[in-house]
Amino acid sequence: MSVPIRSVKPRAAVLSMPEYHPPLAARTALRLDFNENTFAPSPKVMEKLWGITAEELTKYPEREPMERIVAAHFGLQAEEVLLTNGVDEAIHLMCAAFLEADDEALIAPPTFFMYDVSVQMMTTHLVKIQSDETLEFPFERFMAAITDRTKLIIVASPNNPTGGIVSRDHLLAICEAAPHAVVMVDEAYYHFHGETTMGDVASVPNLIVARTFSKAYGLANLRIGMLAGPADLLTYVRKVCSPYNVNGVALTCLPVALEDEAYLAWYVSQVSVGRERMMAGLRDLDVPFFPSSANFVLMNIGVKHKELCAAVRERGVLLRDRSADPGCDGFVRITIGVEEHVTKGLEALKKALAEIDWESPKSLKAAGPEEGEREYE
Ligand SMILES: Cc1ncc(COP(=O)(O)O)c(C=O)c1O
Repeated sequence: MSVPIRSVKPRAAVLSMPEYHPPLAARTALRLDFNENTFAPSPKVMEKLWGITAEELTKYPEREPMERIVAAHFGLQAEEVLLTNGVDEAIHLMCAAFLEADDEALIAPPTFFMYDVSVQMMTTHLVKIQSDETLEFPFERFMAAITDRTKLIIVASPNNPTGGIVSRDHLLAICEAAPHAVVMVDEAYYHFHGETTMGDVASVPNLIVARTFSKAYGLANLRIGMLAGPADLLTYVRKVCSPYNVNGVALTCLPVALEDEAYLAWYVSQVSVGRERMMAGLRDLDVPFFPSSANFVLMNIGVKHKELCAAVRERGVLLRDRSADPGCDGFVRITIGVEEHVTKGLEALKKALAEIDWESPKSLKAAGPEEGEREYE
């Protein structure tokens, strides 16, 4: 029997897509690279985990009862909530549900990379309104980019990797300016900021809010997130979603995590105090940074960004080099966690900067020959 030559090609969209390899290997050092909770989820979640029986693991997970509990927690109807396999899956489902090949999707880089991947699976018309060198959300230019063809708008507030925010007023203005489009507000880092559009989903017909349990709740490994929005829109998203998309371990732990508000408040306060300490420390070190409303800070290291990350790693701390992000050449991001982790991060940073004989770029202006005009792809 002759073996056929393999010539199967993926869709053109997949062929042209860049591969995303998050540097996940050997993360045994202090993880200040992925904006995770650096400590632990609520101890009550851990107790619940230990109580999961073998029989429970044999069953397909039941998402619906948990959606009712989560909806009640947010003062919503069950049909206004969809639990997802992290916000990553939520983004993917939104694109699959709403984007035709001719439709435009609108984002404002630098922002979360998965918007690119999921949109490009459905349409080549991804419109990117790049922030200028202030790295602020370009509200006026963004509004002006809304067209009749705009079908999906995705805005992260707080944004990753900048830590910047888009005010609720501006987000609602975007919804109003694009009544023919769905506006997804990604509130993955909501807890570290506090302003939300969650209270608007009942009254704004084209608004969908995404939340994750990967960050403040410390459940990144369980892969659970949610969408909240008008029931009619979520019906479409539910249609393209597997009924078993969220695993039963995550579903079992979720109500316990939601109930333990004291733990959540403690973790959030650790981050908010730590963030102030980190920003003060960066000021002392003359490191330019973007004032953050999230659990991380984006700093401009300049031409020695790689050396810095390597030197900090030598000291047992992982940072995330964001230089490949548009307009971010020379930028490095550091996660803010509990007190001792902030202390260790700052110490490592201080020593590494001295070791690499670093000179401050003095401003947020990006390094390199592109001077902040680097193309996204
Ligand atoms: C803005 C933003 N949205 C979504 C996610 C992904 O969240 P999840 O872990 O729920 O998939 C991240 C993760 O870093 C993020 O930064």
